[in-house]
Amino acid sequence: MTTHIPNSTSSRSRPQAPPLDLSWLNLDDHYDVHAEVSRRGLTLDSLNEAAFPPDATEAGNHTMRIRGAAPREGAPRYGYSYIGKADSWSEAVPMLYEEAVQRQWSSATDIPWETLQPLPDDLERAMSQFCTFLNEVEFIAADGPGQWLPRLSPEYYEVGLFLMTQIMDEARHMDVFRKRALANGGGLLAQGPGEGLRQILEAKDFTEMSAILHVQGEGFVQSLFRMGELIGQNTAEKTIFRLCAQDESRHLAFGVMHLKHILESSPERREEIHGYFDRAERVSGLTGTQTPQMVEALTVLLGGGSSPAQLDDGWRLQQLILRKQVTEYYHRLKVAGLGDRIDRMPEAMQKIVKGN
Ligand SMILES: [Fe+2]
Ligand SMILES: [Fe+2]
Repeated sequence: MTTHIPNSTSSRSRPQAPPLDLSWLNLDDHYDVHAEVSRRGLTLDSLNEAAFPPDATEAGNHTMRIRGAAPREGAPRYGYSYIGKADSWSEAVPMLYEEAVQRQWSSATDIPWETLQPLPDDLERAMSQFCTFLNEVEFIAADGPGQWLPRLSPEYYEVGLFLMTQIMDEARHMDVFRKRALANGGGLLAQGPGEGLRQILEAKDFTEMSAILHVQGEGFVQSLFRMGELIGQNTAEKTIFRLCAQDESRHLAFGVMHLKHILESSPERREEIHGYFDRAERVSGLTGTQTPQMVEALTVLLGGGSSPAQLDDGWRLQQLILRKQVTEYYHRLKVAGLGDRIDRMPEAMQKIVKGN
């Protein structure tokens, strides 16, 4: 049997285009935008060099218009309350986004889980307690920035893209610490007090949230992760800390550079920003990681066990890490231009920074 195929070229069956407007084509205007593919590929920085750089200090509208698109009369507002560049911008954000995309890793396959061997009960439970604490921390570290996404103008879309990569990073951190807690016999242990974490969600301003989360909280966690060689009992754990530290470096860099940007572009906000740190330092205690369970779990892990001699060794190392957390925190504040916090910090912090 043969099938009859209509002749598509016959004038009777060919669809006719209705009268078209085509004004958007703007054929009279000259367009010659060619973003360069650099050694690092076709990056957001390449786009910004080619056209529509994020130069305006304000979006000038509350609509969903993306930077560079032609405005449409009558476009509705979308509820973006943060339309100023200084509200959320961070100088390194296009590069940090590209790096985040390129350096994603898998908690399922990039951790040498086979090196996880049965540990003595004290070490296994200490690691499980540490992982329980980090589960809570990492969840809030994603939840915090997530709350701000619907309020940031697409004019500075790079910030939104970066925060989405941070949320993905934190999701992976949460799952990798949960996997570690449940993979070797220990399980999840005691819930933490949570006051320090709660204040991240209570922040009423993006810069406040970023100061508390990126600069303070993630700074303390980053200093801790970078001591993972001492804390981890095997290659799997050391790898987890190394990969998480790599991700945290980006989150911290975003926060420090945002703080620097806002202090330079909006100097009138300086005292207000000091106020956020005053409160955060009061609420979080010395480093926010000094809850009783955390300190004790770290002491056991660093000492290699819970005998009196091991606890003495662990305590000494734990104190060293604490000093590192505080001095690195102050160094970051200084880089951002807030070195004068030295005289406003709680006395115990000042003592560490001043080395006495
Ligand atoms: Fe994290
Ligand atoms: Fe983080």
